[in-house]
This record gives sequence, C-alpha cells and structure tokens, in this order.
Amino acid sequence: MTRPIVIAIDGPAASGKGTLARRLAAAFNLPYLDTGLLYRAVARRVLDRGGDPADPAASAEQARTLGRLDLERGDLRTPEVDRAASAVASIKPVRAALLDFQRRFADASGAVLDGRDIGTIVFPAADVKLFVTASLDVRAKRRHLERLAHGIDPGYDSVRAELAARDAADRARAAAPLVQAEDALLLDTSEMDADHAFTAAADLVNKVLARG
Ligand code: DC
Repeated sequence: MTRPIVIAIDGPAASGKGTLARRLAAAFNLPYLDTGLLYRAVARRVLDRGGDPADPAASAEQARTLGRLDLERGDLRTPEVDRAASAVASIKPVRAALLDFQRRFADASGAVLDGRDIGTIVFPAADVKLFVTASLDVRAKRRHLERLAHGIDPGYDSVRAELAARDAADRARAAAPLVQAEDALLLDTSEMDADHAFTAAADLVNKVLARG
C-alpha cells in the first residue's frame, strides 16, 4: 500500500490521458475517476428528457441529481454526446455541482482523476500533476480508430474537425478552461507509445512518494 495521494491528469480529447490514468491507478492501487464521464452523463440525461444541453437550468438540474449508475451507461461516447457534453461543460452551475462529487471521490483513499481542470481547479494541491497532449493529427487518428472499432466510420476529416472544434471550445470557455497547470509535467504522446508515457509518469509518482 502506498500513502493516499491525488494524481491529476489533464489534457485534450484523445491525448492518451485516460489510458495513462487507468494504468497509474492500477499500479499505485488508487481509485480512478474519468471526470469526462460526469459531463457526458449530464448531457445524456438532458438529451433523454428532450432538453437543450446549452440551457443552464436544464443542465444544472441534471448535474445536481446525477447518480453513480448514470456513469455506467453504455451510450455516453456517441458523437451526439460528445457535442452535448462540451456544451454542458461550459455552464458554471453544472461545474459547481460536479466539483463536490469529484472532491469527495478522492476523500477516503486518494485517487487518479483525469479531465480538463483537475490540476487547476478540482485539486490545485494534487501530489502529482500531468498535462498529457498530442498533435491534432495523432489524436484524430486515434479517435477515428476507436470509432471504427465500434463499427462507426464518420471519416477521418470529420473526426478531426469535431476534435478541433471541441478543443477550441474547451480552451476558450470562461468556466474552468482547459489549460496546463503551472506545476504540471507536460507529456506529449505524439511520438510516445502508451508504455513510454506510463514509465515517465510512474517515475514522477515514485519520486513524489519517495519525498514522503
Ligand atoms: O474527456 P471527455 O472527452 O470524455 O470529456 C467530455 C467533455 O467534458 C469535453 O468537452 C470536456 C469536458 N470536460 C471538462 O470540461 N472538464 C473535465 N474535468 C472533464 C471533461
């Protein structure tokens, strides 16, 4: 057992942060939360009720009543939810409602969390902060392959354009924009495989643990 620590991993879509976060959580025996799923689940609930994800009142209500089971649905990674999640993520009361959920998650035994604002807003005092990125072309190729694996082929150009639009929205929004924390280690995975990224990140975590 290691002491409970919080590892914050931020970065744009398809940067490899989810894979890295999952592996770190397993290696250091920490609970893992994919915080993007929270925004996706809120968006899904608004869409299910025929609401508009850009409507602050409708989205905030769904964020406040979000339950654990909502995160386990199998339909949270569709292109429709991609767009709707980006819209709900720019609404301040939605983010406020989800902040508590994320902080409580790490209360008991620490955690690895990945998202866009973990190292800047959710856990500014996290023990380890990583900012994982990759070029737009590399990320679009990865996301296109994921879609193909799910039997969907929207075309590479369309995947690339959607990613670019979502990144721009995530970076430009007023509420908790995607930005690298000053004290985060930058990992550019454009030319790095998952093993290499894991080794670099695990080295950093071990150094922090050794400091005590
Ligand atoms: O990582 P993802 O693609 O599953 O995230 C879905 C959306 O939620 C995306 O538009 C970014 C947003 N998000 C956010 O604003 N803050 C987070 N901590 C995680 C995700």
